[in-house]
Amino acid sequence: MDRKLNLNRAETFSFINPWIRYFLFFFSFLFWVFSLLIVAIGVYAKVQKATDTVRDTFLVDPAVILIVVGVVMFFITFCGCIGALRENIHLLKTFSFSLTLVFLTQLAIAVLGFFYSDQTPDALGKFVNKAIVHYRDDLDLQNLMDYIQREFKCCGWNNYTDWSWNLYFNCTQGNPSSERCAVPYSCCTPVPGEVVINTMCGFGVQTQNYLEATKSIYPVGCADRAVLWIESHLLLVGALALGLSLPQIAGIVLSQILISQIQDEISSVL
Ligand SMILES: *[C@@H]1O[C@H](CO)[C@@H](O)[C@H](O)[C@H]1NC(C)=O
Ligand SMILES: *[C@@H]1O[C@H](CO)[C@@H](O)[C@H](O)[C@H]1NC(C)=O
Repeated sequence: MDRKLNLNRAETFSFINPWIRYFLFFFSFLFWVFSLLIVAIGVYAKVQKATDTVRDTFLVDPAVILIVVGVVMFFITFCGCIGALRENIHLLKTFSFSLTLVFLTQLAIAVLGFFYSDQTPDALGKFVNKAIVHYRDDLDLQNLMDYIQREFKCCGWNNYTDWSWNLYFNCTQGNPSSERCAVPYSCCTPVPGEVVINTMCGFGVQTQNYLEATKSIYPVGCADRAVLWIESHLLLVGALALGLSLPQIAGIVLSQILISQIQDEISSVL
């Protein structure tokens, strides 16, 4: 009787914990599906893009970044998914190793970002400068710049006279543009109860002094707003980085546990 029980136990006992195995499988599967989504969004954005001005301003096309991140994620999560399902040590080791590499790269970027954070406003200033210069050439940049000015209630980078950087708004005498000395409508403060929207409210504003300009537009430059915003959102960025790294650490730990359990299982069979 006792002997039979022992035999049964030996037959069904496994070093491999099914909970860890299936958790790793579903977890990888979820991120695998997610990676396909990222690639799809990246390809869609790439196809939609007609001009290349945004790519020039961002240094690297954000759509390409999405595609690369998605493809890398696709292969890593695929290794985790199939590795856990088939109890394949090679795939699990590839999964664990790549995930560690991604985690360390992310950590390096975070550390660099932290040390260079005081240079962020300068970099942003360069970006806004380009966005102002190409405001009329690229609809995406125009929408982005309008969004920034409305959202942060600001105009230009240092102040509203920065709109002279743009050919159409340039305030130099003899500029034939009908918008000479104007600022875009997104600089305008909303007028309560206004029935007909005055899209020309920014016209001639660059010739006005601060007090006059305050009556129709946001007189503050976006640089001041940006510094405040970055400071208050640094905590959020940190939380986001942590949120990204937690699933990675979980994946590394779980795959390492599964690898050692599979190795125990193999040596017990031998
Ligand atoms: C706008 O900023 C420029 C550059 O910082 C400065 O020279 C100019 O006096 C400012 N104009 C106003 C109206 O604040
Ligand atoms: C405005 O245009 C003139 C003439 O093209 C140019 O010399 C000047 O630098 C421009 N202003 C700004 C602020 O870029």
